[in-house]
Amino acid sequence: MSDWKIEIERCPEDRKQPIPTDGSKLGFGRLFTDHYFEARFHREKGWGEATIRPRGALGLDPAAMCLHYGLEVFEGLKAYRSKTDSIHLFRWRKNAERMVRSAERLVMEPVPVDLFGAGVKALVELEKDWVPGMEGCSLYIRPTLVASDPFLGVRPADEFLFYVLCSPVGAYYASGFKPTRILVEEEDIRAAEGGLGEAKTGANYAASLRAQRRAQKAGYTQVLWLDAKEHRYCEEVGTSNIFFKIDGKVVTPPLAGTILPGVTRDSVLRMLKHWDVPVSEEPIAIEDVLAAAEAGTLEEAWGTGTAAVISPVGVFGYRGKDITVADGAVGALSQKLYDALTGIQYQRDPDHFEWCEKVC
Ligand code: COI
Repeated sequence: MSDWKIEIERCPEDRKQPIPTDGSKLGFGRLFTDHYFEARFHREKGWGEATIRPRGALGLDPAAMCLHYGLEVFEGLKAYRSKTDSIHLFRWRKNAERMVRSAERLVMEPVPVDLFGAGVKALVELEKDWVPGMEGCSLYIRPTLVASDPFLGVRPADEFLFYVLCSPVGAYYASGFKPTRILVEEEDIRAAEGGLGEAKTGANYAASLRAQRRAQKAGYTQVLWLDAKEHRYCEEVGTSNIFFKIDGKVVTPPLAGTILPGVTRDSVLRMLKHWDVPVSEEPIAIEDVLAAAEAGTLEEAWGTGTAAVISPVGVFGYRGKDITVADGAVGALSQKLYDALTGIQYQRDPDHFEWCEKVC
């Protein structure tokens, strides 16, 4: 147990929402559970006021710095229901540690890892009936840290609100575990060296929306970002990291400051190494991906993310042409990774890596 004292104010029975039972209708991020967790930080008092309460409006001043200067960082992790109805979190510490690094980049007060863990676990335990048992569904958890000082000058903040929401979800893409169509983006960039690229902060997602909208209007699922300097090296896809399998070898862009250090990315790297699949983290130019497709050696490509899990890429759109990845279907390694990862997450398979923690 943790040392954080968490007050619980329960939602009255008559305000509770019905818990959905049809997994195919869940989608992603539209429904929220009845309670949320919050804790506040004041420079003189430190962290305190940890509370779980009925979900409702946040007490935030209209002058709160997060609303003016983007002082916000967040995380995404999931809780899974096993066949025996136990509830497990997947690698929550990795998310807590990344949130510390994201906060430090924006000169925000990092949420202590044990406060993050205590809040997430207490909330998931209270909301355990909301963790879906349907295939491919889970409880998505959104820890969020915002600067709450009412102040309009530009300086690092002194007051913070950390809160956690839960949302029962199905597949992130409406198409489910099907090959996606990814447009290579050559105009906008997601992040430049020295910028915010490796922090999980709303600004990176705001920067992505114009290109995402263009891609979706043109019939693609998401964009593949290229590097900011040369518009040549692959970075990441929409809300996922990207992997390619070329001529038997897997390659993914390195964590060089501009891409998100994904928890699923790390899990995939560890599984591939465990299976002795040759894998490297190195810069990969888009022309090399296209040349491999032309030569018939681009065997697979897939995105990885907490929300997207493993999302196979069927087509890359580039300069008006569609380049199909192998035969455009889900590749054998993408399928194997999806099965192995979800096997661990849903407790179907032994958790050799010790990635899951039982909550209740
Ligand atoms: C996640 O995979 O958890 C993400 O944060 C993606 C999200 C922005 C939808």
